[in-house]
Amino acid sequence: MTDLLTIGAVSRRSGVATSALRYYEERGLISSERAPSGHRRFHRAVLRRIAFIVFAQRIGLTLEEIGAELARLPPDRVPTGDDWSRLSCTWHTRIDEQIAELERLQAGLTDCIGCGCLSLDRCKLVNPGDCEAERGPGPTRWVQDAPGC
Ligand code: FES
Repeated sequence: MTDLLTIGAVSRRSGVATSALRYYEERGLISSERAPSGHRRFHRAVLRRIAFIVFAQRIGLTLEEIGAELARLPPDRVPTGDDWSRLSCTWHTRIDEQIAELERLQAGLTDCIGCGCLSLDRCKLVNPGDCEAERGPGPTRWVQDAPGC
């Protein structure tokens, strides 16, 4: 088994569309070599980078932030488990924030979230006259996790 994979093989194994893989490469997040035919060939280790990118996007990192994280990996060798661990340990705060946001969403889905719609009966009680608008745009009670006005 060769260690070099075609873009189609990488796509099948990673679950990421070939167009997204080409975009990641354009952004410098992953890299490939060119076969004599001109087609891309990826080292198998790229699968780990792609999984990292997908996971990082899911927890809300932008591609710029992901690029900065990946730049911390050693450029001259395949990253070890310790290398990856050093990256992900900085994410705990981010993941905790995501969990808190999802818990607020779960808890507040049937109540007023201060979005300005005033469509629920309860909104008229806890957001009279859309007083939540003074706290800023969007669903303020959900995003800011603050008591109603
Ligand atoms: S849910 Fe929209 S203002 Fe309350």
